[in-house]
Amino acid sequence: MSDSVTMDKIVSLCKRRGFIFQSSEIYGGLGSCWDYGPVGVELKRNVKNAWWRSMVESRGDSVGLDCSIMMHPTVWRASGHVEGFSDPLVECKVCHMRWRADQLDKPACPSCGGELTEPRNFNLMFKTFMGPVEEDAAVVYLRPETAQGIFVNFENVVTTTRKRLPLGIAQIGKSFRNEITPGNFTFRTREFEQMEMEFFVKPGTDEEWYRYWAGERFKWYLDLGIRAENLRMREHEKSELAHYAKACADVEYLFPIGWSELEGIANRADFDLTQHAKWSGKDLSYFDSQTNERFIPYVIEPSAGADRSVLAFLVDAYREEDVEGTTRVVLKLHPSLAPVKVAILPLSRNEKLTPLAKEIHERLSRNFVTEYDDTQSIGRRYRRQDEIGTPLCVTVDFESLEDNQVTIRDRDSLAQIRLPVARLEEALKAKLAGESFDAGSLWAGARA
Ligand code: GAP
Repeated sequence: MSDSVTMDKIVSLCKRRGFIFQSSEIYGGLGSCWDYGPVGVELKRNVKNAWWRSMVESRGDSVGLDCSIMMHPTVWRASGHVEGFSDPLVECKVCHMRWRADQLDKPACPSCGGELTEPRNFNLMFKTFMGPVEEDAAVVYLRPETAQGIFVNFENVVTTTRKRLPLGIAQIGKSFRNEITPGNFTFRTREFEQMEMEFFVKPGTDEEWYRYWAGERFKWYLDLGIRAENLRMREHEKSELAHYAKACADVEYLFPIGWSELEGIANRADFDLTQHAKWSGKDLSYFDSQTNERFIPYVIEPSAGADRSVLAFLVDAYREEDVEGTTRVVLKLHPSLAPVKVAILPLSRNEKLTPLAKEIHERLSRNFVTEYDDTQSIGRRYRRQDEIGTPLCVTVDFESLEDNQVTIRDRDSLAQIRLPVARLEEALKAKLAGESFDAGSLWAGARA
């Protein structure tokens, strides 16, 4: 990780440029809740779209799902969450701060050194009431993971799609956990978005598929530009495994807070379908017509966090560079993740330049996510585009009116070239697809 990046710098950039704001800020904020601003929502959508493309659209063996957040309360008994989804909570008898007992180095309050209470198990699920009466019979939970919606729909999906195993079912959506120690910006929050796939396979092939998914998911982050030295895979010890898991590995990222989990890949075996079959009384086995066998499928689950991924992409892209004696802050985001792909910047807000600049913007916005900006000095506008990670800027100047050429500026190398307006789309597409900025043939005829 770059030495210069800290969580404070990321938080400050996010607020300054409109990636992420504190929730309800004008009322003093709400702990661990965050709102995505205009460029943040684009970045997050791009991350989720990249995941969906890779997990659903580009595969023939998976489909998508979008389940409701509130589910039948028995789901959470069957899944083990009512019984076991809890953290050991201790409270300081002096300052009343609360801590997770399993995260403390010594049995004293990390804040004031005071004596702690005995640990008690604190369930992380948010409870609410459905309907007008607040009584136990009306209790429902906000889902703490999207996975259970997939398990309880397994039969619906198999029946309606007529798909055979192996079959992946993917879902992106909000989950809620009443975390005892949320924090580190969007790393751990009480409301967050998950990107989960349950991949149903024939028992006996599960270990192979587990290794396959661990490899695929690791590669996904690298393909989207995460630097290899900041990413590692960590296999869980047997003692660390969740109650449902036969094996689990975490993709870890070197956040400013140290190596931390980005995504988990688990072999859940037949735990979930067996449990839901037992509690619902429905047969959730699968009949393989090719081998005439009936069995409960095993499940491999790659489970990622959308917010945590966004944070990792932001941290990894963040650079401070010395340019002619001043510091340039730039987000070197992968072009497919960048909130804005091309900014159109007339040299100044001049009535002679505006018509051509607007015409170019209108044309480019049909093919690219663009931004038109003619406020402030050109230097300040470049700085803003660098800080939101815009890969390319197109500048229209007075010469453009004479020769019908414009300047393209590359975010990463700061190289600038001029080329005819007529070839802009072709050039921008090639560049966003990763072509080197000074690639010969495309730019032939362009003036440097
Ligand atoms: N269905 C399995 C499951 O939910 P998990 O390891 O508890 O597994 C998966 O969560 C991912 O969801 C994590 O790797 C993380 O990216 C994200 N996640 C979990 N809790 C989170 C929280 N409180 N805030 C932000 N992201 C969280």
